[in-house]
Amino acid sequence: MNNQQIYQDRRDRFLQELGPSAAIIPAAQLVTHHADCEYPFRQNSDFWYLTGFDEPQAIALFLPHRPLGEKYILFVLQKETSAEIWNGFRWGVKGAVDNFHADIAHPLEDFSKRLGDYLYGAENIVFRIGKHPKVESIVLEVWSELLERSSRGESVPLALTAPSAFLHKLRLRKDSWEIQRLREAALISSNAHELARQETRPGMNERQIQAVIERSFLDQGGRGPAYGSIVAGGKNACILHYTANNALLKDRELLLIDAGCSTTDYYNGDITRTFPIGGKFTSEQRAIYEIVLAAQNAAIKYALPGQNAEEIHLQALRVLVEGLIEIGLLKGSIDSLIEQGLYRHLYMHRTGHWLGLDVHDVGAYRLGEYPIPLESGMVLTVEPGIYISDLTPVPEGQPSIDERWKNIGIRIEDDVLVTSDLPDVLTSTALKSIDDMEQ
Ligand code: GLY
Ligand code: MN
Ligand code: MN
Repeated sequence: MNNQQIYQDRRDRFLQELGPSAAIIPAAQLVTHHADCEYPFRQNSDFWYLTGFDEPQAIALFLPHRPLGEKYILFVLQKETSAEIWNGFRWGVKGAVDNFHADIAHPLEDFSKRLGDYLYGAENIVFRIGKHPKVESIVLEVWSELLERSSRGESVPLALTAPSAFLHKLRLRKDSWEIQRLREAALISSNAHELARQETRPGMNERQIQAVIERSFLDQGGRGPAYGSIVAGGKNACILHYTANNALLKDRELLLIDAGCSTTDYYNGDITRTFPIGGKFTSEQRAIYEIVLAAQNAAIKYALPGQNAEEIHLQALRVLVEGLIEIGLLKGSIDSLIEQGLYRHLYMHRTGHWLGLDVHDVGAYRLGEYPIPLESGMVLTVEPGIYISDLTPVPEGQPSIDERWKNIGIRIEDDVLVTSDLPDVLTSTALKSIDDMEQ
């Protein structure tokens, strides 16, 4: 199956989901970093999923109500020598049809004048309000003009709906191509973590380890980090989104690395490993590591069809709480501690999230009261942790924390594919046993 066939199949499924609704899915815009410098371009995941077209500003229309040959329309930047000399190649209108199989393509400038005709006859408009301000103002203006026509009895869209209901349930279930790409992202990420651990020595700076890991992503053909790499020595590991990465690594402290690679086609890895900087755990570090690892192993076992993300979280939580009671950092019964949330000064996040084209990927976790059951082809992270920070007050009635436990922060995170058989840990080549962490 060549690449374009993959996108074509996704479009067919999306058009079918849309029924009588017409969808407007914009590409990402370039974003200014400072002055006139821009961040590296990152395509919008919904747009990418349906088009495979990697240019900014484009807009895709999906029009199931139109005749064959007019259902998939692309508006794109025109070819322009000067712009291409400064900023690089553009496919242009002809390339959008010839290479990306749009039924019809137009220059971007024509969007506002053509949109009304394309939407005419659809029952609803599918468009995400609040995310694409430039396109949104045109969509609303054109829709308003169409509504004027409805008062004359013409058939125009009467409602505006977010695309998530149609598109994100498709993205939640990964096909074999996506699983292969996620495997690649996971493998590159795992290899980089292995390298980073081997290179870590007391006296280095967190930033040097960030360099090792991110260089490895690029060396292996990745696009770069999927998100801001977290390289957190010692107490910095207790800051969940620490990205300053600028402190000295000390013997007898731990290093927590949460980093993943994005492939050139935007699939992501998301791995956390925590290990002793000097090569040996202290007894307190080891005790906490054992609890987190046991919690993770218990939780991963529940990544099975028919289970759900909530159950995975609960399994991890039970093992964490049980372990924390055993070492005297919590007091009470497992059930009542969980019910009253009395563990949250030590574990304050959920145990995982969907993973795909977005690191925190799209897709519902619940439908009303009911957790979404896991199915073969879904991919999620499993990432329990314990963070013993001075910043978080101990709840009344819970044991105060002895200094020897303070500032230990440990998280272990893997990427797991649900299969019809046992869970498939895509990141299993990144080692995590106590013995391996002490190598
Ligand atoms: N690295 C982001 C996360 O683990 O969710
Ligand atoms: Mn994660
Ligand atoms: Mn992570």
